[in-house]
Amino acid sequence: KRPAGAPDKALARKVTKVGVVGAGLMASQLALLFARRLEVPVVLTDLDQARLDKGVGYVHAEVDKLLGKRRITGDQANRLKGLVTGSLTKDAFADADFVIEAVFEDLAVKKQVFAEVEAVVSPECVLATNTSSLSISAMAAGLRHPERVVGFHFFNPVAVLPLLEIVRADRTDDASLATAFAVGKALRKSSVLVKDAPAFVVNRLLTRFMGEVIGAVDEGTPIEVADHALDELGLPMTPFTLLQLVGPAVALHVAETLHEAFPGRYGVSANLATLVKAGKPGVYAPDFSIDPEARQIFEASGA
Ligand code: 3HC
Repeated sequence: KRPAGAPDKALARKVTKVGVVGAGLMASQLALLFARRLEVPVVLTDLDQARLDKGVGYVHAEVDKLLGKRRITGDQANRLKGLVTGSLTKDAFADADFVIEAVFEDLAVKKQVFAEVEAVVSPECVLATNTSSLSISAMAAGLRHPERVVGFHFFNPVAVLPLLEIVRADRTDDASLATAFAVGKALRKSSVLVKDAPAFVVNRLLTRFMGEVIGAVDEGTPIEVADHALDELGLPMTPFTLLQLVGPAVALHVAETLHEAFPGRYGVSANLATLVKAGKPGVYAPDFSIDPEARQIFEASGA
């Protein structure tokens, strides 16, 4: 059955090679997923060799885990490893049909990335973004072919969660959107079409939920109590574990975007901002075990 709002699948273009901009955790997860499900070459790019090596290394390690669980054969593992390569230049995208970016959440950076990709790919190559909350239309503005830009928003862990938000920007054409839905199907995701609105749909709900839990801690509820208050609801993980999985910096960015768009409806926790800006990736863990220094910063911030 065609997902609501998806264009006729006959319009979809074939995807024979994929480019992934960024080699961070999200980008590496995407590279593995695309290689495994589309069985096409996937090229990762990043700014330096160390990051590329880390990204490709993650893919190889995950492939070994799949092999260890006997989800794939030895031949498939070797083939998968061969499909994912790293390149320091975007020239390697020249013959790609689908490029997805998963770089730092900053509109100017993402616009620059798309402009650089557009300089090397064909006019039909779909440019997809995994942004959590930025405007897809703003990202497409200024490109020679803004009609091929789509939002393609995954959820962590990418390999496990089936949901995929596909975003139509104001100039996205049907062929690009149909290609995005066809790719989503090949990736075995449950795609939903959402509007190009701040934080789309899922992150609006999640941010409201997480904002309340973080707010309770900010107001003095011990973190251990707030984190386990909903245990009996059978959530798959506690709120602060989820915060660590998403990444506090990403969560903060989404909250800031929503606060800017709807100041009366979304707040930004000053403590979360303090901890993220102090550069502590493991902040706010339920027992602060990931980074004990975070407790000091948290306490110093007056919570
Ligand atoms: N990467 C890859 N695979 C992972 C993984 C990871 N980080 N974490 C878990 N898995 C796999 C495991 O290997 C296991 O696979 P298997 O069945 O093949 O062995 C499977 O997931 C289940 O894992 P576990 O049995 O260890 O643990 P759980 O049953 O508790 O599941 C979970 C783990 C899937 C992470 C579950 O706790 C969950 O769904 N949590 C909620 C996650 C969530 O809400 N994510 C959305 C975040 S919002 C977002 O990402 C948007 C962004 O814009 C902010």
